[in-house]
Amino acid sequence: MVDFSPFIQRRRRALEEIGQGVLVLFAAAPTFRNNDVTHEYRQDSDFYYLTGFEEPNAALVLVGGHSPRSVLFVNPKDPEREVWDGNRLGVEGAKALGVSEALPITNLEEQLPRLLSDRPSLMCRFEGEPLLDPRLNKALAEARRQGRRGLGFPTTLVDAATLIHEMRRKKEAVEIRLLEGAVEITREAHLAAMAKAAPGLYEYEIEAVLRAAFRSRGSQRVAYEPIVGAGPNATVLHYVKNQGQLCDGDLLLIDAGCELGYYAADITRTFPVNGRFSPAQRDVYSVVLRAQKAAIAAAGPGMTLEQLHHVATRVICEGLIELGVLQGSALEAEAEGRYKPFFMHKTSHYLGLDVHDVGRYFDGGLARPLEAGVVITIEPGLYFAPDAPECAARYRGIGVRIEDDVSIESGGARVLSAAIPKELDDVERACRA
Ligand code: GLY
Ligand code: MN
Ligand code: MN
Repeated sequence: MVDFSPFIQRRRRALEEIGQGVLVLFAAAPTFRNNDVTHEYRQDSDFYYLTGFEEPNAALVLVGGHSPRSVLFVNPKDPEREVWDGNRLGVEGAKALGVSEALPITNLEEQLPRLLSDRPSLMCRFEGEPLLDPRLNKALAEARRQGRRGLGFPTTLVDAATLIHEMRRKKEAVEIRLLEGAVEITREAHLAAMAKAAPGLYEYEIEAVLRAAFRSRGSQRVAYEPIVGAGPNATVLHYVKNQGQLCDGDLLLIDAGCELGYYAADITRTFPVNGRFSPAQRDVYSVVLRAQKAAIAAAGPGMTLEQLHHVATRVICEGLIELGVLQGSALEAEAEGRYKPFFMHKTSHYLGLDVHDVGRYFDGGLARPLEAGVVITIEPGLYFAPDAPECAARYRGIGVRIEDDVSIESGGARVLSAAIPKELDDVERACRA
């Protein structure tokens, strides 16, 4: 039996924030791959966060005011359809979610104007195309029409992200536990991949090891398409073809994480296919590791992700000078952005229900300080493409990223993925396992 109390608490908090207004959210719509075959269905993260409800064709309405309440519209039971699509909770079953009222989704059109009526503001997601969901548009028009009889209707639209995404930015203990679980499964997957990799195998064979490790431990799905890039493929940031062969002397970059109870792990390790780093690989790897550890050491409440990026970038610049790739001072190299051909992404992003999780990074143009409860990745890298500039000739074809998941806590930062080897010796040992 699922414990729905965290979802009930979140709706309660959301209702407090809504005041007199009303919030409407829709479940994710199924998407078609071709003909009548759908992509795997995954509930919309915001909708899941406030309901714990996994079915499509549903809507949540939080009605503020004197008697705040939550109304969930769901697919009614339909034995004929359920033969094909499986069990539905149905209207009666949905009451177990702790909502004030559960209604069939077929009643939405008729009920929505009533629920909007007399509410001064309407909160909904602004990300759709068109901006306002047609169902809401219609309901608003109807509420406005009824307004002629004396009842108020929403005249202010508010982006629900301002409420829900800010709530989601700071994780509750129950969310941290799920993130820890996702990271633990991902740890086992990365270790299995390190043990399996050997010259002659193909990237997809390693991907299969990762996916098997995820699924056999109860993860519902990957948090994103796994990146398994050997040799020069490691220098392609979003390489997901995973078709290449692992050659003796290559590094293999694996960026893969599973999802557990809707929460994402996002972890990268880079290791030698033959179990031994070459001197050039060792040099590059050491710079990235130093940068990553410096950013982790700096992470904690009060720091911004911009500052963490700056810490990592400074070490990357120092390293590029040591490697002979850049000249001059690290300060200048950073200020002039000369590291960017080799380190072209940011160091961190939020992590949670989405791999690139929600929540504002800036406030009034200023980077926001981290706070306890925020979970981030720390993932600097160095990428020397096969056609890298002459200065980097010795390192061409080497790509290294090291990515950990880090929970910001009142006393500092805790690396959730600390048990996945990343020191040179530990990585080589894991490859020999
Ligand atoms: N795996 C996506 C990322 O590292 O941001
Ligand atoms: Mn990643
Ligand atoms: Mn990441």
